[in-house]
Order: sequence, then C-alpha cells, then structure tokens
Amino acid sequence: MIFIRAAAFFAFASGVYTQSQYTATGTAAIAAAQATARTLSPSSNIAGLTFNRFVQIFLENQDYSAAIKDTNLAYLASQGITLTNYFAITHPSQPNYVAAAGGNTFGITDDSTHYISSSTKTIVDLLENGGVSWSVYQEDMPYSGFEANYKNQKTGANDYVRKHKYGNPHPHRLAKSKNLTMFYHDLDNNKLPQWMFITPNMTNDGHDSSLATAGSWSRNFLTPLLSNSNFNVDGTLVMLTFDEGTTSGTNQIYAVLLGSAVSSAKVGTKDSTKYNHYSLLSTVERNWDLGNLGQNDVNATPFF
Ligand SMILES: *[C@@H]1O[C@H](CO)[C@@H](O)[C@H](O)[C@H]1NC(C)=O
Ligand SMILES: *[C@@H]1O[C@H](CO)[C@@H](O)[C@H](O)[C@H]1NC(C)=O
Repeated sequence: MIFIRAAAFFAFASGVYTQSQYTATGTAAIAAAQATARTLSPSSNIAGLTFNRFVQIFLENQDYSAAIKDTNLAYLASQGITLTNYFAITHPSQPNYVAAAGGNTFGITDDSTHYISSSTKTIVDLLENGGVSWSVYQEDMPYSGFEANYKNQKTGANDYVRKHKYGNPHPHRLAKSKNLTMFYHDLDNNKLPQWMFITPNMTNDGHDSSLATAGSWSRNFLTPLLSNSNFNVDGTLVMLTFDEGTTSGTNQIYAVLLGSAVSSAKVGTKDSTKYNHYSLLSTVERNWDLGNLGQNDVNATPFF
C-alpha cells in the first residue's frame, strides 16, 4: 500500500504526536527513532460471519489479463477463488489506496501530499469500534509509525513509499503501522491481528521491477504462511490483488481469495461477480457486523 501523505485520515492527538519523530531522515536520526518508536501488537478473537481473519495484500500496476498469465500468480489462483470481474477505482495509485481504506477517493487524483479531514472515518475506525484488532505491515519501513518515504540505504532504490498507506498520525495507530520484520515477530509470537494490510517493498510489489518479480514474491511469501498455523488460523481469508491496472487498460485487475476460509469445494473456482476495491470494505463490515462508512462501501457487493 502506498502510504500517502493523506495524513489526516486519522485524528491528530494534539500535543502528543511529534511529526518529526515519524519522519526522521539520515542514519543517526533513523537509528534514534528506531530505538524509541512505539510498537503495538494487538490481537483479538471476534468471531466473524464467514471468516475470522482478513489479510489484504496489494501489488502494483498490472492488468488482469497480464497478471493471470504469470506462472506464480496463476498458481496462487489455482489454490483459491479467482475474482474474474474485479476492478480498481481510478489512477494513479494513491486514490486507490485511499478508496480501499475510506470508501471514497475524497477528490484525490494524484500521488502527492494530501491531508484529509481528521473527522473522515476509515475501516480502521469501524474495526476499533467492533473490537477487531488490526495492523498494517509495510516491508522495509525503518520503524513503526514511519511517515515518510524510505530508500535502501546502500543502493538508493525505493523501499517504502508513504503513498501506499493511508495516513495515520494518531500515536496508538502509528504504533500499529509496522514493517515486515514486525510481521514475522508477531507471527512467531502468535500475535497477529484479525485484520491486516500487507504491502511489499517497491521492488517486490512490481512497481520498480516486473510482474514476474511481484508474482514470485507473492508465491514465496504466501506459500509458507498458508501452512503456518499461526497465520492460516481457522477461517483465514487472504485477498491478493493490485492497486490498479495499467493506464491503457480497463482497470480490471487480478484478485484472488486464499486461506482456510476458502472451502476445499471452492479451491480452483472462479467468481465472475462484478467487484471493486469498495468490496474490500463491505466484505469486512458485513463479516463483523461493523456498520459502514456511509461512502461507496454501502452499495459495494461483498465477495465473501
Ligand atoms: C522494523 O521496525 C522495528 C520496530 O520499530 C525496528 O526495531 C526494526 O529495526 C525495523 N526493521 C528494519 C529492518 O528496519
Ligand atoms: C525488497 O525486499 C527484498 C527482500 O524481500 C530485498 O532483497 C530487496 O533488496 C528489497 N528492495 C530494496 C529496494 O531494498
């Protein structure tokens, strides 16, 4: 996900949040922030209607027609349900990530810095009201709550970009915005939350590399997890998709449902119902009876 500077998606707790702490640059400042950044690993056990854990993973910028032909993505599709009529919302990246969190693009049409009203609700507000634990895991973010862009310190290649995440400046929420190191830490300690959003770095998500890289990362990442009982608990639903298609296409994107919540009878099947990123919200809202955001989630068809 691209953590955009649509920062005020979540309310600022004035006097508590120190923005500089979350946007450190330079080795020394990053090391200092790493040493003090607060990290939370909440868990919960709220029974859902059709699943008990939801894992949403976004790759970058490929059309369905190309992605479904990638060997590794085709393999993953064969292990679950392929949504053959799934669409992103718009272009470029950022408004898709915002839409998947808030049910609306809120007028954002680019990838630059935006602030959204602190009173604007997202899925995280609904999850918290319902007692459903959540975390966001972004590969190569240098420390929990980091709110800037980050490059590989040796090669200078893009690692983590904030446009892949919705802004989240409230301290207790920043502490749940973690890196993949923390994902494996939470996994090993059996402290994964019930709702999580995972996004690989800018190489592994395909943005700065290729569809083949995104496909092999996805298969290599998910295969061990699907046989890990700390991850694939009873009723786990994994949604692997892309933020958007290419600008020349129809914005139809690859979307596959995996995990123990997919019954063996459904493995390898296709679902041709028309869905889009707003269905990510309605699926979760219905499952845990969370109400809705009053945005495009209200009329979006849940896919599970
Ligand atoms: C990931 O985040 C944790 C918690 O802030 C931090 O201690 C760790 O150094 C980070 N890992 C990497 C590889 O940057
Ligand atoms: C992205 O992560 C992979 C490991 O998953 C690592 O090999 C690669 O160097 C990272 N990319 C960058 C630009 O740091």
